[in-house]
Amino acid sequence: MTQDQLKQAVAQAAIDVILPKLDEKSIIGVGTGSTANFFIDLLAQHKMAFDGAVASSEATAQRLKGHGIPVYDLNSVSDLEFYVDGADESNERLELIKGGGAALTREKIVAAVAKTFICIADESKLVPLLGAFPLPVEVIPMARSHVARQLVKLGGDPVYREGVLTDNGNIILDVYNLRIDSPTKLEEQINNIVGVVTNGLFAARPADLLLLGTKDGVKRIS
Ligand code: A5P
Repeated sequence: MTQDQLKQAVAQAAIDVILPKLDEKSIIGVGTGSTANFFIDLLAQHKMAFDGAVASSEATAQRLKGHGIPVYDLNSVSDLEFYVDGADESNERLELIKGGGAALTREKIVAAVAKTFICIADESKLVPLLGAFPLPVEVIPMARSHVARQLVKLGGDPVYREGVLTDNGNIILDVYNLRIDSPTKLEEQINNIVGVVTNGLFAARPADLLLLGTKDGVKRIS
């Protein structure tokens, strides 16, 4: 199976999990990236089964609208049962690194609101120790150098993601060579640096269910 076929299989598996629980009032939180895009395209086939979606990025909002799925502002939504999104890395505890697509802050907000966070990923994303994928950190532009110096003190090698502005108008530092033994602690430490908007560790709020695409089928880890 190709990586795209694995992504499509986990997207379908997420549809199979949520579809029986949807009704005409349901609003679904939708993530960002290539795996989430497969999910959106499959979700569109069932758009009569739910009300609409909350998007974790402008790109996702555009894709949802392109399928005729109504997109709601999170502030107008009181109940979000599911958030479905990909990840750049996951460990067995379903702690994640996200933000390869620069949408980490809105992703973390929607994940915080949702009752159930379903992560969909191909098997290359499951790792014993987080950190081989450089950790994205969203930073207020004027704080870039200050935050980079603090990240070096934490043992990382931050690299400015040239030419990228987030949907919130901020920049991204990708932090290489972090040894992430304690994801929750590091998530908090980085968030405490003045000028950081958020970082791509999803450890304080990990996923609830990981649907992992493997050549032997979709594995459920919860
Ligand atoms: C977006 O900012 C990321 O958090 C994505 O969820 C992550 O990069 C996974 O993307 P793919 O599904 O394209 O691998």
